[in-house]
Amino acid sequence: MPDEDIDVFVVCAAGAISPGEAKAFSLWRLSETGEAKPFPIVIIQREPGAFFGYVNVCRHEGTWLNIGSGKFLIEDGCFLQCGRHGAKFEIDTGICVEGACLAQSLEPVALALIDGDVCVCGVALVEDDLWRGFDDLEETMDIMIH
Ligand code: FES
Repeated sequence: MPDEDIDVFVVCAAGAISPGEAKAFSLWRLSETGEAKPFPIVIIQREPGAFFGYVNVCRHEGTWLNIGSGKFLIEDGCFLQCGRHGAKFEIDTGICVEGACLAQSLEPVALALIDGDVCVCGVALVEDDLWRGFDDLEETMDIMIH
């Protein structure tokens, strides 16, 4: 963690997510009371250098978007889709344009590219020496905090 006051955390190298690809990260954030809470996110590189991040929770029933298939993107990477009932979301806005949660938006995660790394900004994440102690992390998700 570069600076405790700024809350900027490196999640992965920018090169770890190819253009047109989305990846899940199972992180932990600190609540206002200091409790560690699961913070599953998805980061998409829509085109080279254009990264978008959202909390990986569907607005309809609150499941992971990639439940079931493990996939996030449909229509050649043009939209995010929830694997449960098929809600379709714009990548750049997170707004549902088709499906059960029409017009609702995924919760955005502020990202920054710093020195070639994709960083989450403005969220107090649990540092890696703490979250490595949790034993119920989702095994299929990629987890990297430096
Ligand atoms: S839970 Fe995502 S569309 Fe129903």
